Parts: sequence; structure tokens; C-alpha cells
Amino acid sequence: VSAFTFCSLSAWAAEPIKVGEYASLTGKEASFGQSSHKGIVLAIEEINAAGGVLDRPLELISEDNQTRPGESATVVKKLIARDKVIALLGEVASGRALEAAPLAQAYRIPMIAPAATNPKVTQTGSYVFRVCFIDPFQGTVMAKFAHEDLKARKVAILSSVSNAYSVGLAKFFRDTFTAAGGEVAIEQKYQEGDKDFRAQLTAIKAANVDVVFVPGYYTEAALIVRQARELGLQIPFIGGDGWVADQLLEIGGDALNGCYYSTHFSPENQDPKVQAFVQRFRQRWGAENPDAFAALGYDAAYVLVDALRRAGSTAGPKLRDALAATKNFAGITGVTTIDQNRDASKPAAIIAIRDGKLTFHKTVAP
Ligand code: PHE
Repeated sequence: VSAFTFCSLSAWAAEPIKVGEYASLTGKEASFGQSSHKGIVLAIEEINAAGGVLDRPLELISEDNQTRPGESATVVKKLIARDKVIALLGEVASGRALEAAPLAQAYRIPMIAPAATNPKVTQTGSYVFRVCFIDPFQGTVMAKFAHEDLKARKVAILSSVSNAYSVGLAKFFRDTFTAAGGEVAIEQKYQEGDKDFRAQLTAIKAANVDVVFVPGYYTEAALIVRQARELGLQIPFIGGDGWVADQLLEIGGDALNGCYYSTHFSPENQDPKVQAFVQRFRQRWGAENPDAFAALGYDAAYVLVDALRRAGSTAGPKLRDALAATKNFAGITGVTTIDQNRDASKPAAIIAIRDGKLTFHKTVAP
């Protein structure tokens, strides 16, 4: 455990407000956890420098779930029972958010998931919120993109057997693509951690499709596309926000040219507010551009603070009600209004990979 106490904290007479963060700071998906963590830390530091909340400083208590199944529940129990946090920030991955959500609900500690997009996360109960779009939207965006922009008529889907995010996104993509008159000619599966996808790709190649949808995480997605190219399959592969990581290009390289994915944010967005955030982030973390998870972590912390101010209290039920009433909160990833399902409706950005680089392609409004 690492408790972040900032130099500015010592100047305060008032007790800090404890906020718990659980994230994949190490392990297979450390890239996701590190990104959201950096966004959250930057926000908390800014908030304290600007006078804190309710005349008190914020203290962020961060716990690492090591990307391990089961570990999110363990560390969130500690944050609630031992540290007595008043709110939880996490997770970026739906599977891990789904482990923590029942605890947030049972103990009435409001939880804000920065980037967990599976609908089930907030369906857990009235204390569970998110500041990102959900996968029925993301799946629809990419299905329409395949059908209308890439003019695909026959597609393949290659998804994880068990990951909640992957299974959900595959379904929402399939629903929209077939409703638009397209055909999902073949569906193939893999297990998290697989390294060899040639059997599935050989079957996909034989099906003669226009586009392959891979609603998975960057490690598998990058390997899949590389092996596809080795097998002579040159069609576009497309994905969702699980592709967001620097490692995508490191692993996939030029094989990814001509591929697209949807995400929540692009550092290329020329909105002055976004560019100012990019500058502050780079200053704080050393010349590294914030990705979507950093931007959403940052926004999640500010949405929490906005609700604390309106609640005038750190009590779970009051804070919950204030979060539920969040309206038109202008952040870095767009404007957040929490709807009746405790979800946020936000635009999606589509990123194109060209010449071994990520380029902003277009924005799709909800
Ligand atoms: N929206 C994705 C999810 O809910 C984000 C994500 C994908 C996070 C992959 C981590 C890994 O799971």
C-alpha cells in the first residue's frame, strides 16, 4: 500500500478526507492501472493545491490488485474496513470493477469507475457510478463504423471466452452489425493470455470477411494482428478501448497499419482545455502523453470532488445522492451527466493506425 501524502497536506489543520483507489498498478494490465492512477494523482494534487474540499485536504490511498482475479475484492475490503475511505475510484477494467462493486454497495461507499464500460458494473446497485460511456454504445459505434465507413458486409469476431468486457462488447457489436443488414460470418474465441492465434485466424481467413472485430485487450489484439499479417490476411482489424496502451504499437508495430479502435479521449484533440491538461500531465509525469484511462481517472476524481462540494458531507448516502445528481460537469473527456442508470453518456473517439502511428480519425456523438 502506498498512501500519497503531499507536502501541501502538512499545512492543513483539518483531518484529510480519505479516498480509496484500487487499480492494476502491476501485473499483466499494469499499463491500464498506471494510466488511471497518474490521472487520479494529478487531479488530487491540483485539488489540494487549490484549497482542498470542504476545508479539508484529500488523501489518496492506493491499492494494487496486481491484475489478479480476486484481488480487487480483497484490497477494496481493506480500503473500506481498515482505512475507512469515504469513496472508491476504480477500476478501468469491467471484470475487476465487478468484483469491487458489491462491496461498495454493501458498505454504502460510493464507487466511481473511470473506464469500466460493461453495463453490469453500475447495475450492481445505487452506489456504483461511472464517468465513461458503456459498451452498447461503443459496440454500436464500431459496428456502424465497419458497416458505413469501411463498407464491410461480412465480418468476423475474435473475442475472449470469459472476460466480461470482451464478451459484452462482442454481443453489442454483433447486434448492431446484423441489424444494419451485415453478416457475422464467423466467430472465434481465445483465452486471456493465449499467445498463438493461428488456428482461429486460419478459420477466419477461409471465411473471406471484410473486417475482423477484436474486442480484447492490447496484448492479445496486437499479437492477433501480427499473426494475421503473417498468414497473409491484410484486411482491417478493429477494436475498442481495450486496445488503448503504448504497448499496442510496441507489440504490433507496422502490422497494425489500417486498423482502428474506439476510445474515450485523444491527446490530439485541439480543445484548449484538453491541451492544457496534456501539458500539466506531461509536466507532472515526464513527457508522457495522457491516454484515455489517465483522462478518465482525472475526470473521475473531479466528479467526486464536485459531488462532495454539493453534498457538503462525506457521508455515503449524501455523497451518493450528490453523485447521482451530477449534471453537465465539464471535464477533459467531455461533459459528464450521470443518468438514471448511473452511467455517463459521452462521445467516442475513433483512432486510426497509419504508418505505425496513432492518429485521431473522428468523433462519434452519443
Ligand atoms: N472499457 C474497458 C473495460 O471495461 C476498458 C479496459 C479494457 C480496461 C481493457 C482494461 C483493459 O474493461
